[in-house]
Amino acid sequence: MKMKNNNENKKIFIKSYGCQMNVYDSKRIKNLFEVRGFEETNQIENADLVILNTCHIREKASEKVYSDIGRINNLKKIQSKKKNFKLVIAGCVAQAEGEEIKKRSPSVDYIIGPQAYHKLPDIIGTDDNIVNDEFLQHEKFKNLLFKSSNDVSEFVTVQEGCNKFCTFCVVPYTRGSEFSRPVEEILNEIKIYSNAGNKEIILLGQNVNAYHGVNKNNKQADLAYLINCISEIDKIKRIRYMTSHPIDMTESLIKCHGDNKKLMPFVHLPIQSGSNTVLKKMNRKHTVKHYLNIVEKLKSYRSDIALSSDFIVGFPGEEDEDFDETMKLIDKVKFVIAYSFMYSPRPGTPAANKKQINIEIKKARLYALQTLLKEQQKDYNKSFVNNKIEVLFDRQGRHSNQYIGRSVYNQSVFIESDCNLIGSIKKIRIKNSTDFALEGEINEK
Ligand code: SAH
Ligand code: SF4
Ligand code: F3S
Repeated sequence: MKMKNNNENKKIFIKSYGCQMNVYDSKRIKNLFEVRGFEETNQIENADLVILNTCHIREKASEKVYSDIGRINNLKKIQSKKKNFKLVIAGCVAQAEGEEIKKRSPSVDYIIGPQAYHKLPDIIGTDDNIVNDEFLQHEKFKNLLFKSSNDVSEFVTVQEGCNKFCTFCVVPYTRGSEFSRPVEEILNEIKIYSNAGNKEIILLGQNVNAYHGVNKNNKQADLAYLINCISEIDKIKRIRYMTSHPIDMTESLIKCHGDNKKLMPFVHLPIQSGSNTVLKKMNRKHTVKHYLNIVEKLKSYRSDIALSSDFIVGFPGEEDEDFDETMKLIDKVKFVIAYSFMYSPRPGTPAANKKQINIEIKKARLYALQTLLKEQQKDYNKSFVNNKIEVLFDRQGRHSNQYIGRSVYNQSVFIESDCNLIGSIKKIRIKNSTDFALEGEINEK
């Protein structure tokens, strides 16, 4: 179905800078323009429409946008067709600093926030160049288009926004307050993907376990309910969710890990710090003990569950003793993977006005923490050597007979095979492990 033919041969280039939800939004933007005749290109100089889907979470991600705008301005090929060429800044930076973008980069044609991008096709060509003032989640999802990208694994945003206001974080300001999509709307979207061959669904939300959408009887449903509904779709073999907040880790969701065979034994549960003092300063609303209780409960339903987390080092007021507590927590929980960052002060957030920690201290802490995490990850991966594990293959490797998949615990698994394994789940014997991946061979016995 094509809605307008005057866009025939026009090319769109989209770059995602942020989290999985930002990637999901980029796919939806692509779908909105595809039905209007645009074709995606990965060569920016060939594009008629460039969309930078930005991220505001840390200064580095945010500043990258401005340097990219500068680079785009210097592309001769783009300058020669400037009259019809359009540059759009979408995403969380657009929401947070629309006016500043306009001031710093007058070459930008349109600025559109993450809740308004469904309007983008209608806005292009008008004089309405900044659209970021409202949080229109409900209207947005009703107006989006969902086309399978033919990936084995597909992200599906089920919840957006955040009411938690951690003192370091911009998300409540860029994505608005918590919103959950209705169960049926989500199931309909997933059926589009599963009918196209998709095997795994990764449910997304800034606080995905705060999900509370209505079901078909107009009753409020939680994430466990949604997961159970999705698992009834035959063609979907695996379900994952991210990112969860410890205070929304309900009994029903924890129990679901024991009851639902399609729900993978892997939980990304950010804690940020192992010190109660720092957690309080961060306004995380939970203690280390609360977190450890969740870990224990999860293990009681699913003893092999793998945990991952996010950490921030060098948060204002973090003393050496606080950092030691974080290291102790990591040592205790044995995360199978974790993402760690130096604290980055963000405009408009409470912690940005506090006395900041010296960059060298931040760097040293990050290095120590990442070294420990890497050791743990290496040991964890090593424990799989000579064991068999189920892997869903989702892409081709660098060599023509190399395939890459994900274990149930979300590890990358590499294998050589003469037949195409993409989309299949196979039991694999692990031969070798590295810090980041497993290498295996097919074992049909
Ligand atoms: N909603 C999720 C996290 C969303 S942001 C949660 O509550 O855990 C993803 C990660 O970015 C966070 O977990 C945090 O570790 C990191 N992050 C967020 N703001 C940051 C900042 N100002 N500086 C450094 N890291 C930050
Ligand atoms: Fe940010 Fe905290 Fe909300 Fe997560 S829970 S999105 S870290 S404010
Ligand atoms: Fe970045 Fe916005 Fe996601 S700030 S992490 S793109 S919600």
